[in-house]
Amino acid sequence: MKTVVSGIRSTGHLHLGNYFGALRNFVKIQEQFNCFYFIADLHSLTTHPHPDDFHASVRTILAEYLAAGLDPEKCTLFVQSDVPEVSELYVLLNMLAYKGELERTTSFKDKVRLAKAQARGVAVSDVAENDQNDEGVNINAGLLTYPVLMASDILIHRANYVPVGKDQMQHLEFARTLARRFNNMYGEEVFPEPEAFNFGQAPIKVPGLDGSGKMGKSEGNGIYLYDDEKTITKKVMRALTDSGPKEPNSPMPDYIQNLFTLMALVSEPVVIDQFKAAYADCSIRYGDLKKQLAADICKFTLPIRERIDDIYNNDEFLRKVTRQGAEKARESAAATLALARKAVGFKTF
Ligand code: ADP
Ligand code: TRP
Repeated sequence: MKTVVSGIRSTGHLHLGNYFGALRNFVKIQEQFNCFYFIADLHSLTTHPHPDDFHASVRTILAEYLAAGLDPEKCTLFVQSDVPEVSELYVLLNMLAYKGELERTTSFKDKVRLAKAQARGVAVSDVAENDQNDEGVNINAGLLTYPVLMASDILIHRANYVPVGKDQMQHLEFARTLARRFNNMYGEEVFPEPEAFNFGQAPIKVPGLDGSGKMGKSEGNGIYLYDDEKTITKKVMRALTDSGPKEPNSPMPDYIQNLFTLMALVSEPVVIDQFKAAYADCSIRYGDLKKQLAADICKFTLPIRERIDDIYNNDEFLRKVTRQGAEKARESAAATLALARKAVGFKTF
């Protein structure tokens, strides 16, 4: 049976990007494959969350995972830091990761640019892409080696498939590189090369409603599974639009296309077709489009939202789930780590 691994950082509530880009697939394939899903709490440390908030953030993702349909009897659900084998493999893999390739990772470059912009009190676009001035910014090494830790998460279970959104493809490619490099270096096929998984379809990117790129926690434009109807409606009604197409069959600006992209995820095809036809003949009213979109998002998220609080407050259940998950994950991780250690040459006296 094929093995699947994926995780989400514990940095806030889950939004529609997390759901449609990742979690929806986690749920769909949990019966079909040997699935390991986790809460990436170690990864969240790159931004130094306050210790008083740390545990609650892990609990939030766990509760939302379960509310969205992850079933601990069907998959292995665990907290990353409960499996120390991950950190040991991370050390071994760090020896095979090159500083240059880590520095060229898009997510790293974006984070560095953002940190510089914040330190200088300017917009990100005001920091040149090849800016070399590190004055006033401290970029921690955990941020640089973030993709190595992620590779370790994946390779520690010898995963075949990794369901993630489009933004994670470069990290996944790097995990493949490290798997190959390890196998070549030590002459053993310890790690299979993990592949992206999205049911044979291209990985998806859920857009934000502010006309910018993706929906994200750090982008501050999330529509969360935990949001109530009023909040969702307010967020959708605020979405960027304009005065509407002036000529039949006009091309769609990105920010309007984004509304349709979200609709494609939550609305009925006939409804979408009606609005598309109205766009084409210029009769569309963006207010109506947004009302429909807000209503359909609410309808979609309601059954998930309704379950979150109960699960979040159920200590006994969460304790049981995480203990059982950690035990199963550690068993799998220890077996892989033993192979890796043997390949590297460790022996007991
Ligand atoms: P965020 O980007 O909001 O901080 P994470 O980085 O923790 O969230 O992402 C967790 C998972 O959700 C990853 O698989 C990622 O690819 C997916 N994801 C996040 N945002 C989006 C989005 N806007 N569209 C598609 N997938 C997304
Ligand atoms: N880096 C991923 C993100 O930001 C989260 C993550 C950590 C992950 N380890 C992973 C995803 C392993 C898939 C597999 O979204």
